[in-house]
Amino acid sequence: MDISEEEKAAVMKVMESQLLSSLAGKEVENFEKEFAEYIGVKYAIAVNSGTAALHISIASLDIGPGDEVIIPPFTFIATASSLLHNNAIPIFADIDNRSYTLDPESVKKKITRKTKAIMPVHLAGVTANMGPLLDIAKEHNLYLIEDACQSHGAKFNGKRVGSIGDLGTFSFYPSKNMTTGEGGIVTTNSTKLARQCRLLRHHGEPYWYAYNRLGWNYRMTEIQGAIGRIQLKKLDKYIGVRNENAQYMTDALNGIVGIDPPYIPEYCEPAYNYWIGRIHPDIIGLDKDQFISKFPNSKILYPKPLYETKLFQKKIGYPRGCPWSCPFYGKDIDYSKIKLPVVEKVTKEIFALDIFPGISKEELDDNIRIMKNLASK
Ligand SMILES: Cc1ncc(COP(=O)(O)O)c(C=O)c1O
Repeated sequence: MDISEEEKAAVMKVMESQLLSSLAGKEVENFEKEFAEYIGVKYAIAVNSGTAALHISIASLDIGPGDEVIIPPFTFIATASSLLHNNAIPIFADIDNRSYTLDPESVKKKITRKTKAIMPVHLAGVTANMGPLLDIAKEHNLYLIEDACQSHGAKFNGKRVGSIGDLGTFSFYPSKNMTTGEGGIVTTNSTKLARQCRLLRHHGEPYWYAYNRLGWNYRMTEIQGAIGRIQLKKLDKYIGVRNENAQYMTDALNGIVGIDPPYIPEYCEPAYNYWIGRIHPDIIGLDKDQFISKFPNSKILYPKPLYETKLFQKKIGYPRGCPWSCPFYGKDIDYSKIKLPVVEKVTKEIFALDIFPGISKEELDDNIRIMKNLASK
């Protein structure tokens, strides 16, 4: 995260204007226009988190009780919990063994009459394989929601993520490629969905005291909007540095056996959020926990598939069991029986390293030295 004099000045300007809410000022509205233009879509709807962006995206499509949405299990909880909060059922498909994003072949096997959407996650700046996912969505008449919360600026076949599916969602949490402190945004080319998202983030209220649908207060503040406008101007520069740092580590590992750098598929122009490495425990003689304990800078990325966590194993939902025991669902899903071999192996071998702008060359070199040492044990 890089907050400079420019952001501070923009915040002060909002403070002096006394217009702190997006209902009063113009910062959020302008940020939305600028973000939409950057992504290459007609509309952007700013909210107060990436999670809120997911909530309103799903609700805008009228996905709810009894509906299934296919997602990867190698992601942050909000991808799944945003479905549960809309009373919909997350269905996990496996991930690709190299990109760690949703595997289209596994998605095909998970489609049922209840499937309403596919929600791939662009992971740490590496895009999901959108071509086959778009084909599957078209063939089965499903919506495609891009969880791009970690991948601002990444491109799939030349198109920015967030402009490919029906809706895209982004987070502006400080660890992301750009920040507003907390915040999020939805992107879309659909006039109808944009209108619904605007309603949903503001109480379902199109004008004072009219309530046209069940909504939330997910509005972004003017201060966040002002920070976002400055950060957006610097996003391409940030991505350039992130990609350079990532490439520096990848190049240094060339020829090293036992630790793989991230794999970038030919369709992807990355915007690295983290550098994701993979160990081969049989070669380096260490399991992931041992490796991470010897490498203090490394981070655990998703220690287990989401369906193995208590929330899913015990199907903890709303009181009285919704959404899983919802009469509209009429099925009994048992997450304890799910077996997805790729994600179960990947979660035992993956670690993440920082590559944010501002990280020192010494830290990158230190990481490289430690990885080389551990690989040659
Ligand atoms: C893939 C993914 N989806 C959703 C979110 C939620 O974003 P936020 O933390 O802004 O609510 C995150 C945040 O880390 C994320 O990584």
